[in-house]
Amino acid sequence: EASKVISLAVIPGDGIGPEVTAEAVKVLKAVTQDGPARFELTEYQLGAEHWLRTGETLPDETLEALKGHDAILFGAVGAAPGDTQMPSGLIEREMLLKLRFSLDHFVNLRPSKLYPGVASPLANPGDIDFIVVREGTEGPYVGNGGSLRTGTEHEIATEVSLNTAHGVERVVRDAFRRASERPRKKLTLVHKHNVLVYAGSLWKRTFESVAADFPDVETDYLHVDAATIFLTTNPSRFDVIVTDNLFGDIITDLAAAVTGGIGLAASGNINMEGTFPSMFEPVHGSAPDIAGQQKADPTAAILSAALMLHHLGFDAEAERVEQAVESDVASRAGNTRTTAEIGDAIAAAVS
Ligand code: NAI
Ligand code: MG
Repeated sequence: EASKVISLAVIPGDGIGPEVTAEAVKVLKAVTQDGPARFELTEYQLGAEHWLRTGETLPDETLEALKGHDAILFGAVGAAPGDTQMPSGLIEREMLLKLRFSLDHFVNLRPSKLYPGVASPLANPGDIDFIVVREGTEGPYVGNGGSLRTGTEHEIATEVSLNTAHGVERVVRDAFRRASERPRKKLTLVHKHNVLVYAGSLWKRTFESVAADFPDVETDYLHVDAATIFLTTNPSRFDVIVTDNLFGDIITDLAAAVTGGIGLAASGNINMEGTFPSMFEPVHGSAPDIAGQQKADPTAAILSAALMLHHLGFDAEAERVEQAVESDVASRAGNTRTTAEIGDAIAAAVS
């Protein structure tokens, strides 16, 4: 069987980033060893350590080189909180956000699933299995603001949320398509259109007009504050959620918490138009407190690789990884394994 060659950029990053990324790559290689894809890896050194060594965050030539790949697998970046050499937010703004904006990652995809055998902090979690489609390139995160008379008692600061008809339409349409492909076919718009009336109205009208193209998808609307209540009291009511950049940032952390935590939360920063490569990464950071000790759970990184396999069209391979993760997670109670041992077990299960 002919194998498709996938040119994959790997950015391991800092802290536990390289440890969990190594396991994700191990599982990718195992699940594709007999085809249909062969991954050709190019590693890029970026992150806090790289900045400390070179003063570079994301050089233009690195960004251009990344654009030439089919996909990007990302670990985590960030210095330890006590590291005073690293200016706060520098890596986030000049590397992570710059990547997401330059590569037009307008779909930030975050699945939330409570796996059998995983403890939720909720007393009655029910069956949790939903995905959040968060807009990734607009909203209040675009840097559309400034301050005047800074540091005085007359300081004025603005941070204007930017919402375009094109930007809202493409992410809402993507969410409808994802909902129509899932068994429950239900899509909830989360916003705050009673107070944020201009952006809210654009989101609401767009949602209603795209809904007409997906008559089989059941629709629902929640204000973001009410959504946080239901995510805690009745998370099984959700199937697909679509929301803006800021609300999505907040509710996906809540979603990760109710489904058993950060070691399992995967994400994709996706450019559905295919103009630039999409990037897949665990939701967690570089965890300096446990870095270099083989204590990190690589599951979120491995599930992010599965999201990448889905995105690249290798659904059967993605599902094998997801099933192997599900059985591995179910058998974890009481045993402590190293990062590499967990990766080995999942790689063996998909081989
Ligand atoms: P963090 O996610 O790195 O760690 C929070 C807590 O969760 C820590 O106690 C850590 O040990 C634990 N943890 C995280 N991932 C784990 C895993 N796979 N297995 C087991 N335990 C895990 O968040 P924190 O501490 O706020 O940030 C540390 C650094 O990471 C900072 O520099 C921050 O800016 C950066 N960061 C980077 C992100 C990214 O690259 N996308 C996202 C979040 C934070
Ligand atoms: Mg966040």
